[in-house]
Amino acid sequence: MRMPSSSATNLNKPELKHFLKTQDYTRKELEDIFELMGMLKEARRANAVPQLFKGKSVGMIFEQPSTRTRISFETAATILGGHALFLSPKDIHLGAKENLADTGRVISRMCDVIMARVDDHKTVAGLAENSTVPVINGLCDWLHPTQVMADVFTMMEHLPEGKKLDDLTVAFIGDATNVCSSLMFICTKFGIHFKHIGPEKYQAPQTWQDIARENCETYGGRLTVTDDVNEVEDCDILIADSFYWFGQEAEKEERLAAFMPEYVITEEMMAKAGENAIFMHCLPANDQRECTREVMDGPRSIIFDEAENRLTAQMALLVYLTHKDIEQPSEETLAYHQDRIDSLLQRI
Ligand code: CP
Repeated sequence: MRMPSSSATNLNKPELKHFLKTQDYTRKELEDIFELMGMLKEARRANAVPQLFKGKSVGMIFEQPSTRTRISFETAATILGGHALFLSPKDIHLGAKENLADTGRVISRMCDVIMARVDDHKTVAGLAENSTVPVINGLCDWLHPTQVMADVFTMMEHLPEGKKLDDLTVAFIGDATNVCSSLMFICTKFGIHFKHIGPEKYQAPQTWQDIARENCETYGGRLTVTDDVNEVEDCDILIADSFYWFGQEAEKEERLAAFMPEYVITEEMMAKAGENAIFMHCLPANDQRECTREVMDGPRSIIFDEAENRLTAQMALLVYLTHKDIEQPSEETLAYHQDRIDSLLQRI
């Protein structure tokens, strides 16, 4: 009896595309994903989400803890008719008993998408190099691209009266985090004036600014990097993020001293931005550090819409990255396999 050497339907796809950073996508492609997000969100509201991930699975590698990213991917896969597997380094051999390349190849034979939250960008890039299914960056030391898909979509939902996306001025206050870099890249790609406001030592490095400035030249955005908090004046959106993250605990005191109290988003800072300014935060938030509880719970905070849109973004990404994968089998093909298997089962 001759057996097929592989049953994977997703090997050697010519159109394989990963989602490691938004810079790998044209503005038109990102607009397509936003449009898909809008449709899927409406479908979810109507409890009528098409089963576009049916029978598929996403293997989720988490080197760091997560609330929103884990829940949103897992729920997105389920809502779309598929399945998500939670894989922590405690559960799999990643980098210990098995090298990264082999892990990527193996998961590719069984899952349709890999999502990885990793300490080092090289890990997610290495997985992508060796996988035959799309790899999604669920956060690394440099970038958080799925977060900013949710963020820009949420901005679109909350556009100030009479303004378009490219009329916005968005200020990110604080450390040059992975959310800061990703927002800087996507905002400038959509013609937004993006400001990074933080102490000089913690400002976006020149390499990031070069990428963003190139976007500005192409798409008409603007980039301001400054330590002057007065720059919040007339901004449409103020965004906060943690002042320190995993691996930076030893710098905690130094960092808090550098950022607090000047760069904490307070009611006073919101007032300075303008009476219609909106507050965003990717969460989790350390209230009373990078922002006050009053701002988080205030009438201009859209942080929970932003969190919910993580699910909107993950639904769209799972569909966008896999919809060309597998030809749907014809009735005849389904019947052929059913008959063969039924007749074997009757014999054994
Ligand atoms: N914003 C974000 O990525 O949240 P989690 O760390 O909870 O996934």
